[in-house]
Amino acid sequence: MIDDQTDRSGSIYSFGETNLAAERLRVVSEVFDPTSEAFVSETVRNRPGLALDLGCGPGFTTRLLSRVARPERTVGVDRSKAFLSQARAGAAAGKGYVTADVAVAPLRIAGIGAQPDLIYARFLSSHLPEQAVAGWAKELAAGGLLLLEEVDSISTEVAAFDEYLKIVSEVLAQYGNELFVGARLATSRWAADLWIEVNRTTEVRPSTGQAARMFSMNLSNWHHDPYVEATYPPGKLERLATELDGLTGFAETGRIVWQMRQIALRRHSAP
Ligand SMILES: C[S@@+](CC[C@H](N)C(=O)[O-])C[C@H]1O[C@@H](n2cnc3c(N)ncnc32)[C@H](O)[C@@H]1O
Repeated sequence: MIDDQTDRSGSIYSFGETNLAAERLRVVSEVFDPTSEAFVSETVRNRPGLALDLGCGPGFTTRLLSRVARPERTVGVDRSKAFLSQARAGAAAGKGYVTADVAVAPLRIAGIGAQPDLIYARFLSSHLPEQAVAGWAKELAAGGLLLLEEVDSISTEVAAFDEYLKIVSEVLAQYGNELFVGARLATSRWAADLWIEVNRTTEVRPSTGQAARMFSMNLSNWHHDPYVEATYPPGKLERLATELDGLTGFAETGRIVWQMRQIALRRHSAP
C-alpha cells in the first residue's frame, strides 16, 4: 500500500491525514489484516514485554498487534498528530501512542525508554531510507523480532488499476520513494546479528470494489501534486477517478492481486 500525499519538507511521501485517509486505512485494514494476523501469530512465539508499531497511522495495526501478540505494553509511533489523536480516541489500557519521526529519531530518544521485544511496520518502508529500517533492528532487545510487511508487486487485468498504479509509482519516484519496496527489502543485506526467520511473499486478493475504494480515496490526495499537474491533463485524472468510482461496487476477487513481502528478523540473543 502506498501513502498518498507529498511531504514537500523532505524526501518522503507522507499520508494525507484527513478523515478520508483514515477511512482508506480502514479499508486497508479490512483487506490486509487477515494475512498480517497470520504472520504475527506465526512468528511471535513468546509474549513480548514491549511491542512497537511504527507508522501506526490511526491505530489499526497497533490494535492488531496488541490483539494477536498480546504484549504487556504496545506503543504506536507516528509523526502524524492527526492520526495519533484518532488512534488515542480508541485506545484501551496497555496501549499508548508517541509522536516521532521514525526515520530520524532513534526510538529511545522518542521517549519510549525500554528496549522493544517486537517491532512491527506495515506499509511504512517505502517512505524511508534503507538505513532507517536497519536502524530499528538495533533498538531491539536481544532475542527480539522485527516484522516488516510491504508490497512486493501488484498484478491486475483492470486497465484503470494499471493506469492508477503507473501514476502512483511515478509520483513516488519523484520523491525518492518506491511503490514496490518489498522486492528491495527481500534482497537487503542485514546486520550480522540478525537472523532472517521469514522472507517470503503472501498473496492478498481484495475484491475489485475494495481495490477501487482504496485507489479512489488515495487519488484525491495527490491529484494536485505538482508533478501530476505538470504531466497529466486534468481531464485524464478526472476520467480515472470516474472509472475507479464506477468499480467500487464490484464484489468479485481475482482481478487484482497483491504479493505482500513478509520479513521477520530476529536479533541474536547475547552469548
Ligand atoms: C500507509 S500508512 C500505514 C499505517 C498502518 N501501518 C497500516 O498498515 O494501516 C503509513 C503511516 O506511516 C506514517 N509515517 C510515514 N513516514 C513516517 C515517519 N518518517 N515517521 C513516523 N511515521 C511515518 C504516516 O503518517 C502513516 O500514518
